[in-house]
Parts: sequence; structure tokens; C-alpha cells
Amino acid sequence: MNILLTGHTRWIWKYLFDRLKHQYNIVGLSRQNGFDLTKKSTFDKILSFVWAKKFDGIILNAWVGYFWKFESIELEKYEEIINLNLLANIRILKVLQFNIYSKTKIIFIGSIIGKKFLKYGAVYQASKFGLRWLAWWLKAEWKKVFIVNPKIVDTDFHWDLQINPNWAKTSLDDIWNTIENILLWKEKRFEIDL
Ligand SMILES: NC(=O)c1ccc[n+]([C@@H]2O[C@H](COP(=O)([O-])OP(=O)(O)OC[C@H]3O[C@@H](n4cnc5c(N)ncnc54)[C@H](OP(=O)(O)O)[C@@H]3O)[C@@H](O)[C@H]2O)c1
Repeated sequence: MNILLTGHTRWIWKYLFDRLKHQYNIVGLSRQNGFDLTKKSTFDKILSFVWAKKFDGIILNAWVGYFWKFESIELEKYEEIINLNLLANIRILKVLQFNIYSKTKIIFIGSIIGKKFLKYGAVYQASKFGLRWLAWWLKAEWKKVFIVNPKIVDTDFHWDLQINPNWAKTSLDDIWNTIENILLWKEKRFEIDL
């Protein structure tokens, strides 16, 4: 099986990449291997990189988040959030539309934050909310579309946030099991809240 995964170099997806790579042919895209998904020019490069490969799974995970009071964060940072978390996914699916076939599963990594209020995260939250509706409508057209919404995962992004330590968490194994079940056709739900 061929799997394409964005943002495979850190935390959740580094862990999952290390597990997936033993079972699947996996193409990772992130800045560390030369694919800055906030740059328009990257998308032509992706096409020549993957060429005619048919993908069984496309996992759209790369993200960025800046959190604080709305007026304290520069517009450029907000643009980066929307560019990476939302627009880059639309661009990838456009350039890969001929690499998608009847069995391709498209898996968006959303967040519980697309559904629930988070203080100091307006634009991040907007990006995940947008992703949810993008996934929803693509599901209506393409059927094999999924969105996985983790809660807080033990990573570094929220260390400077005032996250309540009592907030429920999602484990890496929960995420792994969900992804594996989708890839193996065992998971039928469109939206999986973890
Ligand atoms: N952590 C949580 O608590 C949590 C909770 C709910 C949902 N999520 C979601 O889970 C996913 C992964 O979260 P994470 O905490 O594992 O993320 P992370 O550790 O911050 O990793 C982000 C990944 O995105 C890549 N990336 C960042 N900017 C990029 C760019 N311009 N172009 C290409 N790739 C870029 C990074 O690779 P490079 O630096 O090499 O580019 C990295 O591999 C995200 O979609 C996040 O919204 C996380």
C-alpha cells in the first residue's frame, strides 16, 4: 500500500510514521525533506516527486498553531495557519487528484478544537473548523473521506497555553489504532472523535 503523509517529522506523526513505514510504502512531506507546504511552488514539486503513484491513503496532518489574544499575533502568522492547515490540503488534493483512485482513503487530522471552544486560538480554531467542512463535503463526493479529531495529545504545542491539566487526552495508541482501522477498512465512521 502507498501512503502519503504530510507533517511526518514530529510528535504524533513521527511516532505513527515509524510504525507505518514497516507495513506501507510511505511518502512523507514536510519542510525537513524540502516540502514547505505554505509555498505555492512546492505543489508542482510534489507532483513530480510522486509522479503516477496511486495512493491507498492520503493523511493530511501538517499544521501550525499560534495561540494568544487575537490582537497580539501578527497577520502573517494567521496567514501561515490558514495556508498550512487549510489551503495546503486543498492544494495537495488538487495536484494529486489523478493519484487518487477508487480505493484511496483520505484522512484529515482535525482536532476537537474544530468543535469546541478554545481560549486564545481563534484562527487555529477557524482552520480546523474549515477543515471539518471541507472533509464533510468531499465525503459527499468521494465517499472514502475521514476526519480524526484528537483531544489533547502529550506534545509540545500547548506547553505555553493555559490548558487545564484535567482536560481529557488522547493517546498515541488511540490515534494509531484509528488510522490502522481506516486503512484496513475496519472503520466505517466519517468523523472519529478520539
Ligand atoms: N498535539 C495535540 O495535542 C493535538 C491535539 C489535537 C489535534 N492535533 C492535530 O494533530 C496533528 C499533528 O499534531 P502534532 O502535535 O504532532 O504536530 P507537530 O509536532 O507540531 O508537527 C507538525 C508537523 O507539521 C510539519 N510542518 C510544519 N510546518 C510545515 C510547513 N510549512 N510545511 C510542511 N510541513 C510543515 C512539521 O514538519 P517540519 O517542521 O519538518 O516541516 C511537523 O512534522 C495536527 O494536525 C494537529 O492539529 C494535535
